Amino acid sequence: MVDFQYSAMAGRLRRSEIRELLKLTRNPETISFAGGLPDPAIFPYDAVEAASLRAIHACGRHALQYSPTEGDPFLKEQLIQFMARHGEPVKPENLLVVASSQQGIDLLSKVFIDPGDPIIVERPTYVGTIQAFRAFNADFHGAEIDHDGVIPEKLEQLVIRLIDEGRKPKFVYLIPDFQNPSGITLSLERRSQVLALATAYDLVIVEDSPYRELRYEGDLLPSLYSLDRDGRVIQLKTFSKIFCPGFRIGWMVGPAEVIDKFVMAKQGTDLCTAAYVSIIAGFLIQDGHLEKQIEISKKLYQRKRAAMLAALEKYMPKIDGLWWSKPEGGMFLWLQLPEGIDANDMIDDAIDLKVAFVIGSCFFHDGSNRNTMRLNYSYPTEEQIAEGIRRLATLVERRLAVSPVR
Ligand SMILES: Cc1ncc(COP(=O)(O)O)c(C=O)c1O
Repeated sequence: MVDFQYSAMAGRLRRSEIRELLKLTRNPETISFAGGLPDPAIFPYDAVEAASLRAIHACGRHALQYSPTEGDPFLKEQLIQFMARHGEPVKPENLLVVASSQQGIDLLSKVFIDPGDPIIVERPTYVGTIQAFRAFNADFHGAEIDHDGVIPEKLEQLVIRLIDEGRKPKFVYLIPDFQNPSGITLSLERRSQVLALATAYDLVIVEDSPYRELRYEGDLLPSLYSLDRDGRVIQLKTFSKIFCPGFRIGWMVGPAEVIDKFVMAKQGTDLCTAAYVSIIAGFLIQDGHLEKQIEISKKLYQRKRAAMLAALEKYMPKIDGLWWSKPEGGMFLWLQLPEGIDANDMIDDAIDLKVAFVIGSCFFHDGSNRNTMRLNYSYPTEEQIAEGIRRLATLVERRLAVSPVR
């Protein structure tokens, strides 16, 4: 037997609860609201095929070679133009191409987190971020959110407390648009308030923004990055939700000094993001396919969101303490059950009824709020959404019948 001497970090690594849960949903009859997957029916296969051939014909030597760690220059240029079209002007030295935003989160951890460092995340927040920061032994502090996103007064109290303890947070990690998991958006007024707080207490803000462009109603809100006047916002962007996740293409935007640190961290991780995929992505953006895909996704997901909201309205029991968010975009909706109901206890029944969801508590760094769940509506068909919510409502009814609701 080999005695493998693992690092302390390896000891902290955990498999993603969602990825584990997804295994349960392999049964083709199961209707899954559990993943965070775009609908493959709308993946732009023809455009990708054409761009792939073009990349190899037009740029074969570059496409099959290493590229600069900062990112393939052609893709960077296309990303800069894309950002400018969406109200976010950016200079080349402020942008780093990464292997999707999960890599960005990992680089962020490498560059900022020493074991025990305090960081602030929303309650709830993206589970993949909890997983990454936890590996670096971050000291999590949760900022409460309501229907308009993170609550500035609560955030300020938390920051003051940490500073008073001599433990200024390394950064505040926020998902301002159609947050994963809750679907909630940080209001415009609060964006300004959060930035004013950041200036007052000299905080770094991390804006994770995979869903911003997927807005189905109302106006696109300015990003924290575009509103920031101090150079204290680091933004994470990705192809995954607005194009397709198989590309593993994303980008980080931030102050040149910080981007330089990310570049050095990335050199130890993967040297560079794949040149071939980068060039394909560049052609797709140049030819307008990214924007086209965003429009197609918005139309489809808007219908699916409406289908889910209608089904919830129709099938869910009308009782106090049961509510769900009404996202204006993105891919997720948040369902809260009455206090005392544990979504964990519903898993066996869910397998039995062939419907899958993600337990909300895995989006809380302390595992609390067990009476919540995240529902994804981008992946299932509209018919599956209606039937799946009907099954979920049966499950809730069953649980209510056996659980004393506090
Ligand atoms: C908020 C958030 N950040 C980051 C990611 C990671 O996405 P990717 O690595 O595919 O860009 C996700 C994926 O669901 C997400 O919801």
